[in-house]
Amino acid sequence: MALIQSENCFRGDNKLPTPQEEAGSAEESPSCVPGQAKASSARVLSPEELDRLGREGALVSGFKQMKLEKEAQKNWDLFYKRNTTNFFKDRHWTTREFEELKACREFESQRLVLLEAGCGVGNCIFPLLQDDDLNIFVYACDFSPRAVEFVKQNPLYCPERCRAFQCDLTKDDLRVNVPEGSVDVVTLIFVLSAVHPDKMKLTLENISRVLKPGGIVLFRDYGLYDHAMLRFKAGSKLGENFYVRQDGTRSYFFSKEFLAELFEETGFQCLTNDYVLRETVNKKEGLCVPRVFLQSKFTRPGQSGSS
Ligand SMILES: C[S@@+](CC[C@H](N)C(=O)[O-])C[C@H]1O[C@@H](n2cnc3c(N)ncnc32)[C@H](O)[C@@H]1O
Repeated sequence: MALIQSENCFRGDNKLPTPQEEAGSAEESPSCVPGQAKASSARVLSPEELDRLGREGALVSGFKQMKLEKEAQKNWDLFYKRNTTNFFKDRHWTTREFEELKACREFESQRLVLLEAGCGVGNCIFPLLQDDDLNIFVYACDFSPRAVEFVKQNPLYCPERCRAFQCDLTKDDLRVNVPEGSVDVVTLIFVLSAVHPDKMKLTLENISRVLKPGGIVLFRDYGLYDHAMLRFKAGSKLGENFYVRQDGTRSYFFSKEFLAELFEETGFQCLTNDYVLRETVNKKEGLCVPRVFLQSKFTRPGQSGSS
């Protein structure tokens, strides 16, 4: 029971985790001391954690699940209405973790074309656009109109280097805004987890159409048995490894096998696919919580069209 008590102590209340705790502050807050290791197999649960997962209760009703799917865009848009740009922290780690983002450095004349799929308010793209060494053009899309508007209002947004647009990755053809086969790198950072598992393949097919042959998808998202997954209370489970938060946004927790199969079914080849394990220490509470992310790279086979 120690972990469960600790979790309540960590949060200080009884609420479900918010996306910020999962992907923002808990991952990168300066008040936390991170330690990171890569692992090829899933985290082993303690008996207490297993017991907790066993007590998740019945799935959310089919009617409510349909409503959540129908209102997914609205719920994310409301999320940005409440939180504006103050929620997720800028992700300064992307060039460290994904050296492909620096590929353009090797050839002075080459411009890297990037698509940040599910860009939110731009926490991934603005650190990249600020990096003077990167010769980069960024397409950025999100299905929350508010998030896209925040991206466009950012002082670092300039149409010569960036184009933001609204798009539901599960149903709006990306080729309306991005030329077919023109993108070197797609980043999918804490986005696919927000998509219903039945629509993840549609999302990857959409992305694949704008990616160059030989282009790469850089993926980072919640991993199986992440601390956030174990904190969902009874009544929040939508399906296997799939949960709903209090604000109506949803989160899937990926096993590496599930992700590899999903990409491979869509015609991608796996380059790397590892769990990232972090012990996040909350100094104030003196608590260690196990975070699990999945970090992966997939390529669309074919000759690279980069020049
Ligand atoms: C956790 S945020 C991550 C934002 C950004 N990638 C980052 O790293 O800060 C997830 C984003 O995915 C977007 N999203 C969820 N489902 C989507 C869909 N079907 N099409 C486009 N965007 C979607 C949400 O609006 C939200 O902005």
